[in-house]
Amino acid sequence: MKAAGIDSADLEVRLFIKDVLGITDTDILAGPERPVSEKESQKIELMVQRRLKGEPVFRILGEREFWGLPFKVTPDTLDPRPDTETLVEAALKRFKTMPPKMILDLGTGTGCILISLLHEWPESQGFAVDISEKALLVAQENAERHGVADRIRFIQGDWQGDWSAALNDSFDLIVSNPPYIPSGDIPNLESEVKNHDPIQALDGGKDGFQAYEKIISQLSSLLKRGGAVFLEVGFNQGENVARLAADSCLSVEGVHPDLAGIPRVVEISLGEN
Ligand SMILES: C[S@@+](CC[C@H](N)C(=O)[O-])C[C@H]1O[C@@H](n2cnc3c(N)ncnc32)[C@H](O)[C@@H]1O
Repeated sequence: MKAAGIDSADLEVRLFIKDVLGITDTDILAGPERPVSEKESQKIELMVQRRLKGEPVFRILGEREFWGLPFKVTPDTLDPRPDTETLVEAALKRFKTMPPKMILDLGTGTGCILISLLHEWPESQGFAVDISEKALLVAQENAERHGVADRIRFIQGDWQGDWSAALNDSFDLIVSNPPYIPSGDIPNLESEVKNHDPIQALDGGKDGFQAYEKIISQLSSLLKRGGAVFLEVGFNQGENVARLAADSCLSVEGVHPDLAGIPRVVEISLGEN
């Protein structure tokens, strides 16, 4: 794998070995002499072969850690990115003293954002919306694994689906990491992204802002007064998303940078009026 130019080959092979043998780093330290059977060795070799063909490591493992929790990842879901933890962190900070009662997650994918938040806030409830039925099944499985499924309603639908008209309630917190790559940029993405993340999770339309426009246009009817919205944005999109919110008479409370200092999450509220 090193010869093939994979910089983190040591770390990745260690992940494959731990997965196949069902062991932890501590087990490796405590018993480095553990024998590896022929079958186990073949499984590890198969994972290495997939990796050499360009498949991302977390897709091969079928699991990715997010906010300290393991999430199942399938070809129908975006592989959750560490940058998205910026959104979880910002939302937790905003509701530090009083957790939100009702949370809406638009485009839930693996469910990583909503499930992490519900894991932190044991009294909160959530709605997980996604256009992909298969992604919702993965989100449901992840929610069950982390003991929060009974506090989530899973809804298959569009950003502006009929589901919102049928709601009796509005939300204290709305979160979303929508698809935001301009359609024309998709062929230029790294092959690990364009060949493995579902196109539905990436394609933000001609200019990348299609989902934001639709989501922002209905925030005032979905959000409770005093509530907050956190939208993840792509590189260089923060200002435009903030402008879209301001054009819809919403207040932009701030833009939160990720660990690399790049504006990553726009925080919005209904404002004073
Ligand atoms: C960038 S992924 C984010 C997934 C997950 N929330 C995360 O942060 O890892 C965007 C998600 O939006 C969903 N999606 C795309 N178009 C949609 C639409 N029109 N209505 C609802 N969900 C949509 C995709 O299926 C995908 O799961």
